[in-house]
Amino acid sequence: MYSLDSFSDKIWRYFAHDIAIDLGTANTLVYVLGKGITIREPSTVAVNKRTREVLAVGSNAKKMIGKTPANIVAIRPLRNGVISDFDMAEAMLKYFIRRVHRSRGLNLKIPKPRLAIGIPSGVTEVERKAVIDAAIRGGARKVYLIEEPMAAAIGANLPVEDPTGSMVVDIGGGTSEMAVISLGGIVTSRSIRVAGDELDNEVINWAKSKYNLLIGEKTAEAIKIAIGAALPAPDPNKQATAAMRGRDLKTGLPKEVVVNEDELAEALKRPLRVIVDNIKETIEETPPEIISDLYQNGIIISGGGALLKRLDQRISLETKMPVHIDEDPLTTVVRGCGKALEELTLLSKVQIT
Ligand SMILES: Nc1ncnc2c1ncn2[C@@H]1O[C@H](COP(=O)(O)OP(=O)(O)OP(=O)(O)O)[C@@H](O)[C@H]1O
Ligand SMILES: [Mg+2]
Repeated sequence: MYSLDSFSDKIWRYFAHDIAIDLGTANTLVYVLGKGITIREPSTVAVNKRTREVLAVGSNAKKMIGKTPANIVAIRPLRNGVISDFDMAEAMLKYFIRRVHRSRGLNLKIPKPRLAIGIPSGVTEVERKAVIDAAIRGGARKVYLIEEPMAAAIGANLPVEDPTGSMVVDIGGGTSEMAVISLGGIVTSRSIRVAGDELDNEVINWAKSKYNLLIGEKTAEAIKIAIGAALPAPDPNKQATAAMRGRDLKTGLPKEVVVNEDELAEALKRPLRVIVDNIKETIEETPPEIISDLYQNGIIISGGGALLKRLDQRISLETKMPVHIDEDPLTTVVRGCGKALEELTLLSKVQIT
């Protein structure tokens, strides 16, 4: 039987459709309560440089990167996991929140949604306030912030509220976050600004120094996704290759070089070393009782970076712990935020106050 309260609450929720957002450096995902993930698009805004007018948001804006005429720029409002361009972050949030409402086909005056947003652990108070302000001005009624590693752990269905240690490593575009969680709280954590974007930069520098080839960000990312690896190929004769196209720095003319997995593993060595060392140090800082839980439960990895070939094996080799990739690593954080928003007691435990 419905109590009147829960009934009106349900109606309220039906119209307000509370949402969880993973406002990532690379991708923004929106999870609507009761519906699931409805939006996943690049965190990019295209603007007119002179008038600051927003021309496109998301996929349409990303298509313009590197191809825009002089007066149009494609902006990524987040750098290293935090808002670097406030106006554009607000414009992006507003656009995505409105889109959730519009897809209902209703033209009513709809109550504003409650919003749960994942943010990197260890961001400053000023950075947190920037997220809250952008969300409120973007159309939210109330904003809950959840640290990304906590959200990732919830999204990966780890027993975060139990008295047992769980470890997650989320490797996104701007930040890599590693955390050990127990009893609804973070026991030890690190957040470093070495992640997917840094891997792309490393590919750009490597192409320059090894092949005198100037490649763009999009090419570097595509090569990394196609053949990037954290360990050399098990069989050197069975490696995937990819054509890397750019401009020859000597002649100024277009040039194509075919590269393989082992070359990429070598090129990505430095940033991967940093990521793996930070995972090891996070484990070293963990109390011994909890470390023994980790040996049992293993480490879960999420974020787009978790998909880098053989990264799970590499982390397992170096930490001597079992490592599992979350079933859908690009959506772990947003699913976790959504789940927290659905369970009020969990939300009250894990939200940042
Ligand atoms: N198959 C793949 N192999 C390697 N890297 C990948 C793969 N797929 C995506 N990535 C990388 O994952 C990153 C994006 O991941 P994700 O969407 O989790 O980041 P984000 O949440 O937007 O960033 P952040 O959490 O740092 O704010 C990009 O750098 C992208 O190049
Ligand atoms: Mg992320």
